Amino acid sequence: MTRTVYYTATSLDGFIATPDNSLDWLLSRKTDADGPMGYDGFIAGVGALAMGATTYLWVCEHEPGWTPERPAWVFTHRDLPLLPGADLRLTAGDPAQVHADMVAAAAGRDVWIVGGGDLAGQFADRGLLDEVVVSIAPVTLGAGAPLLPRRVELAVQEVARNGELVSVRYTVERTPSPG
Ligand SMILES: NC(=O)c1ccc[n+]([C@@H]2O[C@H](COP(=O)([O-])OP(=O)(O)OC[C@H]3O[C@@H](n4cnc5c(N)ncnc54)[C@H](OP(=O)(O)O)[C@@H]3O)[C@@H](O)[C@H]2O)c1
Repeated sequence: MTRTVYYTATSLDGFIATPDNSLDWLLSRKTDADGPMGYDGFIAGVGALAMGATTYLWVCEHEPGWTPERPAWVFTHRDLPLLPGADLRLTAGDPAQVHADMVAAAAGRDVWIVGGGDLAGQFADRGLLDEVVVSIAPVTLGAGAPLLPRRVELAVQEVARNGELVSVRYTVERTPSPG
């Protein structure tokens, strides 16, 4: 069954990018993509993905050769240029409708919410987020793009060390806490 997973990396103080959208603090870390909770194992189970405009523009600037090799939706109100060779759709549609389209496209595999944090929160707001998987880098940034700027109750399911990172897989608790 398809799970909708926010899979990302974060600083210890909960930022996924610096205020100027740099990932230097992350990309310099030693990790094994094929190791515990690493990217290779994760992406193999993904059938569709979504990201916000800032994340997409980061990809365009820094990884223009990255083609996710599965259908991808970019949430934006702008007419952004499309990366050649990628199966991309720009959308400003209701995340619930887009989610239904992503689940259909994923054909039983998982849906990856790439980021940013507010976009993941929009899916959580609608009860559509199943898991949060974070790899925590050994650094604090003090400011930047927030990991998940909402209150979302989570339950720890898995913990692993991968190189310099510690990864945790949480399931989203759908019953609100009392008070
Ligand atoms: N650490 C990691 O592993 C990791 C992972 C992913 C991303 N990142 C980085 O984290 C940063 C995230 O940036 P961000 O917080 O600005 O988030 P973002 O989600 O990448 O981009 C936010 C933008 O997406 C568009 N958007 C969001 N929701 C929308 C909706 N419902 N409908 C239409 N458009 C919508 C809006 O752009 P418009 O102005 O076009 O409307 C909004 O300003 C980036 O620097 C990215 O590279 C890091």
